[in-house]
Amino acid sequence: MVENFDRRQRLIVALDVATAEAARKIVAAVGDSAFTYKVGMQLYTAEGPAVVRELVGSGRQIFLDLKYHDIPNTVGSAVREAAELGVSMLTVHAAGGGKMLRAATEAATKVNPKLVVLGVTVLTSLDEDDLGTLGVRGGLTDQVLRMAALALTNGCRGVVASARECPALRAEFGSEFAIVTPGVRPAGSGHDDQARVVTPAEAMAAGASHIVVGRPITEASDPAAEARAILGQIAA
Ligand code: C5P
Repeated sequence: MVENFDRRQRLIVALDVATAEAARKIVAAVGDSAFTYKVGMQLYTAEGPAVVRELVGSGRQIFLDLKYHDIPNTVGSAVREAAELGVSMLTVHAAGGGKMLRAATEAATKVNPKLVVLGVTVLTSLDEDDLGTLGVRGGLTDQVLRMAALALTNGCRGVVASARECPALRAEFGSEFAIVTPGVRPAGSGHDDQARVVTPAEAMAAGASHIVVGRPITEASDPAAEARAILGQIAA
C-alpha cells in the first residue's frame, strides 16, 4: 500500500509545542522536506482546531493524535468533526472496543473515505508489569496483536505500535495496513527521554510504514536538513 509513496509520506513530524506560533516556526523551518505533521494533545488543547485548519489550509497533511477513547456515539461524533477539519490521519484507542472502533471508522468514511483511522495498540510507555496491573494477561506482543486484530477488523486502516512489535504485526496481518511507529532517532543521535529507540532504517526494516519524529527535527538547528537526513536513512 505505501510502497509507491513519495518517501516524505513516511515521515511524520511531531509538533509537540504549546503555541501555534511555535508550530508555524517549525513548519516553516522544515519547508518542503516533510509534509505530514502530528498535532497531539498539547498543541490541540492549547490552540484548538484553528491550528489544524491553518495547517491543512497551507497544504500540509495532519495526523491528529488525540487518541479518542469513549462510548461509540461520542467517539463517532468527535471523529466526524476531525474529518470535517480535513485531517488525513487520526488515532483512537483500540482498547475502546469493537463497537467504538466501528463507530469511529464509519464516521470517518462518511466524511472522507481516504481518512486513515489508526488504532493505538499499547502505549509505548507501558511494559508487561504495567499490563499486569491493568489485568491484562499474557505478553506485551500478545496484547498488541489482540488490539491490532480488533482495530483492523473494525475498519481501521492501520495501528500505532513500537518498532519492536512490527515484525509480529506484519507476520500476523500482512502488509496492507499502516504501522505508525514513534521512538525513532536518527543514527548517531542522542536519545532524549526515549528508553528504547530505533533508527529510521531499523523501523522500516521492521515493517513500519510511517515514523513519527519529534525533537530530533523540531529542536535541530536546521530542521530541514535533519528531516532530509532522516529521509536519506529511510531510503537506505
Ligand atoms: O521523542 P519524540 O520527540 O520524537 O516524540 C515524538 C512523538 O512520539 C511524541 O509526540 C509521542 O507521542 C511519541 N512517543 C511515543 N513513545 C515514546 C516517546 C514518544 O509514542 N516513548
